[in-house]
Amino acid sequence: MRSAAIIAAAGSGERFGAGMPKAFVQLAGQTLLEHAFRSLSAVVDEVVITSPAGWEPKVREIVGESARIVTGGATRSESISNALEAVSPNVDYILVHDAARALATSDLAERVLAELIAGEVAVIPALPVIDTIKSITSDGYVSLTPDRRNLRSVQTPQGFTRALLMRAHATGGDATDDAALVETLGERVKVIEGEARALKITRSEDIRSAYHFIYGDKTKEFRTGVGTDAHAFSSDENRKLYLAALYWPGEIGVDGHSDGDVASHAICDALFSAASLGDLGSNFGVDDPKYSGASGATLLAEAARRVEAAGFVISNVSVQIVGNRPKIGPRRREAIEAISRSLGSVPVSVSATTTDGLGFTGEGKGISAIATALIYRLP
Ligand code: CTP
Ligand code: MG
Repeated sequence: MRSAAIIAAAGSGERFGAGMPKAFVQLAGQTLLEHAFRSLSAVVDEVVITSPAGWEPKVREIVGESARIVTGGATRSESISNALEAVSPNVDYILVHDAARALATSDLAERVLAELIAGEVAVIPALPVIDTIKSITSDGYVSLTPDRRNLRSVQTPQGFTRALLMRAHATGGDATDDAALVETLGERVKVIEGEARALKITRSEDIRSAYHFIYGDKTKEFRTGVGTDAHAFSSDENRKLYLAALYWPGEIGVDGHSDGDVASHAICDALFSAASLGDLGSNFGVDDPKYSGASGATLLAEAARRVEAAGFVISNVSVQIVGNRPKIGPRRREAIEAISRSLGSVPVSVSATTTDGLGFTGEGKGISAIATALIYRLP
């Protein structure tokens, strides 16, 4: 007897609001889709994934060659219908799973499948409900209070014989789960014990609950780092000024290695310091021709890559620019965006100060910057 899993991953994730389909949201270093795929592929003979239109190559990158990929439809039911056509003809049992229930275990999938093998035609995992649930009318009045003891909160993977699932979807009906379509055919749907960790990740705060199932009470290992840099204004009036990953037209540049962007250099140093990866010099040595003319943006991107390769996630960076000019305020937002983009969309803050006429910055001889970085390693 052969089994297949359909993983529904074609939704847009409107309520989550990540700016990309929810299946590609990261949870502890893996996308939701990857989590779901790992659990289910360990249990069934083949996997079909419904992909958001245009995201098929990304799905392929995540799951490799070992799954079929079909483009999803406008509704979940339509997506599953599309996927059904891609299931091999010799498959007898099908588990339908939401990528959004990323942490459902292989054990749950196995228990669903075992019920099918034992003769059930439709099997769904479910948990008792905690709240009292009321049915209401369209004008906002209670019409019914069902007995809570008979209510269940339903999850996936849901298992069906292939023949029944095909019949259910042939009705062309639309429902938020597949069991609902089977129920309209008058077939019996067996309910088994679900899992708290099979929660559906729907809103961004659900990631926090999901973390708890992965890490329990263990906390992230945080590290901070600090970095500074300073350069003198050039005597060459044609030297261009680069600062905070931006070009500043009309301002005289500074002398120094690479483009002399003290803010970017201070941030790189802070990142290396936090990750114990040495400093700017040891990473982008003056002797290394590769970085001799490198822009601040290039160095920031490379520093972020090295910090991530060492197993860290950047929480945020903060930089303060010290000098009489240029005036940072009018371009602060632009600077924040440029630095953040280079680092891979991390939170950035940029502030500036003068030093009351004191020191080389106060005397207008140069610019300096001081930065901090907070990074963490997942447990
Ligand atoms: N899904 C799908 N095709 C659709 C809609 C949803 O394959 N046309 C999938 C989603 O990718 C998700 C599962 O069905 O894994 C459950 O749907 P839901 O949690 O509602 O996800 P989204 O539809 O992506 O989220 P939202 O409703 O907030 O937009
Ligand atoms: Mg939806």
